[in-house]
Amino acid sequence: MEVPCLLPVLLLLLLCPAGAPFRICAFNAQRFAQGKADKPSVMDILVKILSRCDISVLQEVMDAKGKAVTALMTTLNRFDGSGPYHNLTSPLLGRGNYQERYVFIYRNQKIRILDSYIYKDNHPDRPDVFAREPFIARFSVPIKELPELVLIPQHTMPSKAESEIDALYDVSLDIQARWRTEDMMFLGDFNADCGYVAKKRWGQIRLRQKPGFHWLIGDKADTTVRENTRCAYDRIVVHGERCFSAVVPGSAQPFDFPKEFGLSEAEALEISDHYPVEVELNAACWGLQPARPAGLLLLALAILSGSVYGI
Ligand SMILES: *[C@@H]1O[C@H](CO)[C@@H](O)[C@H](O)[C@H]1NC(C)=O
Repeated sequence: MEVPCLLPVLLLLLLCPAGAPFRICAFNAQRFAQGKADKPSVMDILVKILSRCDISVLQEVMDAKGKAVTALMTTLNRFDGSGPYHNLTSPLLGRGNYQERYVFIYRNQKIRILDSYIYKDNHPDRPDVFAREPFIARFSVPIKELPELVLIPQHTMPSKAESEIDALYDVSLDIQARWRTEDMMFLGDFNADCGYVAKKRWGQIRLRQKPGFHWLIGDKADTTVRENTRCAYDRIVVHGERCFSAVVPGSAQPFDFPKEFGLSEAEALEISDHYPVEVELNAACWGLQPARPAGLLLLALAILSGSVYGI
């Protein structure tokens, strides 16, 4: 009796009902501030974009008082039952009057923030290379093979894109020294194309040249909303073999939200002139909190039917 009872359980494990992939997104929300928060049509699309992702990294949040982010979180948590979403918001970063925040928005049930810091931009060879220093966070994620993951959002200054992307390599060394981890993902609007990074310069950019960095969004991608531009500005770069092997092959892509939500170019530009970029990681079957009750119910039914029918 006991051995045959395992059959349905094994079947269940194979079917893995809770194995929804885990999606990480980065979005340049183009001067997200109160003006956008006051427009319901903009907020409606923004929360639809965010609710597709388990972790989003927003850039260009120009919300000095933080009220627009609060409004966004309220709207998002009202819209989507799969939350609650929490946020981790950087201080204002930048030079002079042009300052912006990085904001992590993540599903609190699945994810914990273990630690975070702002990169100390004082490398002896390259002091003050970043206009907006990376705001780095270490997460625990429901991925069996990858219990922890470091995310490094970056929005480069267009005219300094080459040196900032290059210096992200120094950031990777800093993270490895600090947290003893290889598993990290760089993501955001690197301005990595169309006049800001010359093709011949890729050979000198260490984040691109050093072994172990996987560029998941390629040079041919288009991450811009305008129909007359085609530039791969926004990127996702993964480091660490555990992290790389968790990536769902082919899942890294720009998200064409105007097409998905039926918006004209003008309507889409109210939200942003960038597409979000996204990637999926393989989630552990039984690690996902919301799916657990359903999985247990199925398991119980399977065992029950196994004992009734004696299979
Ligand atoms: C968002 O972050 C702010 C500032 O850190 C915090 O006060 C607020 O509680 C957070 N909101 C949510 C829903 O996480």
